[in-house]
Amino acid sequence: MAESVVDIIKGILKCLVLVVYYWIVAILKAILPTNMQAKDVSGETVLITGAGSGIGRLMAVRFAKLKCRLVLWDVNQKGNEETLSMCREYGVTAKAYKIDLCDRDDVFNVANKVKEEVGQIDILVNNAGIVTGKKFLDCSDTMIQKTMEVNTMAHFWTVKSFLPDMIKRNHGHIVNIASSAGLVGVTGLADYCASKFAAVGFDESLRFELESLGKDGIYTTVVCPFFINTGMFEGAKTRFPLLLPIVEPEYAANKVVDAVLCNQAMLLIPRILYFFFAIKGFLPTSCLHVISKHLCINNCMDDFKGRQSKLD
Ligand SMILES: NC(=O)c1ccc[n+]([C@@H]2O[C@H](COP(=O)([O-])OP(=O)(O)OC[C@H]3O[C@@H](n4cnc5c(N)ncnc54)[C@H](O)[C@@H]3O)[C@@H](O)[C@H]2O)c1
Repeated sequence: MAESVVDIIKGILKCLVLVVYYWIVAILKAILPTNMQAKDVSGETVLITGAGSGIGRLMAVRFAKLKCRLVLWDVNQKGNEETLSMCREYGVTAKAYKIDLCDRDDVFNVANKVKEEVGQIDILVNNAGIVTGKKFLDCSDTMIQKTMEVNTMAHFWTVKSFLPDMIKRNHGHIVNIASSAGLVGVTGLADYCASKFAAVGFDESLRFELESLGKDGIYTTVVCPFFINTGMFEGAKTRFPLLLPIVEPEYAANKVVDAVLCNQAMLLIPRILYFFFAIKGFLPTSCLHVISKHLCINNCMDDFKGRQSKLD
């Protein structure tokens, strides 16, 4: 039966009231210090992909300080073992697994091993990432494929592995580390941007799906940082470092863990990105081109060196 006009107006009013209510809640949450809203994660099991270096390692150490059990995944066994020792210094149980996230079967096999040897995962952090850093036509087919596999597809396989159990318990948290390049296109990062836009879309859809299933005990957090000083984007530059700074890894890692503790759905680092993200929604593309040119977003990858990765 068709809805009456009164019901439609009631629906719109209810929607408006809820929007204003949640807007106020979001502002209060942004102002309140983390420790006043943080959940207790001690004793929880946290799985981090790409834990062998960069912010993956730093997040692992922060979770260890919070007395979490750690499961560390990386293709780089040496780096992962180093992270393992760093975590164990805090007296927590931790286990490292060598894995190639480009290989779906490897992800499912190692995930099964983790379930047997460690048990359920409470917090899954999809952090591993790679970047080609070349103009699209200069990217090799292999690197384009690997970029999609590590930065996007691997998120599908890890979530397929661990979400069913979270759903049974109505308890869990999935973190997807994307990038500001998952919100705006960048010259020299076409394959990377595509993979990170996908990660942002995956996270948002997953959050809506979980809500529609009534799983209010499972949270997702998508993280979109600007450049972080880890070496992954070595050589990339910013024109206005005071306005748009290259972020320090410790700051980024701590912000991500804080976002998990506060069940924050979306985290942009640094904060100025919230403003750019908002204006992208209503400015015409011609204006965005002007701003992007002024901020030199289109040249920021000109001197990119990266990690001189052997993955190609
Ligand atoms: N560094 C930045 O400027 C920046 C900016 C925005 C977003 N990010 C994202 O943050 C995340 C972490 O980046 P980081 O700066 O710490 O990078 P990093 O290079 O220090 O760490 C990435 C880790 O992923 C691992 N990895 C790569 N391919 C893998 C594979 N096939 N299987 C298993 N592990 C693999 C690497 O061994 C490494 O330990 C990435 O997803 C990245 O895209 C980084």
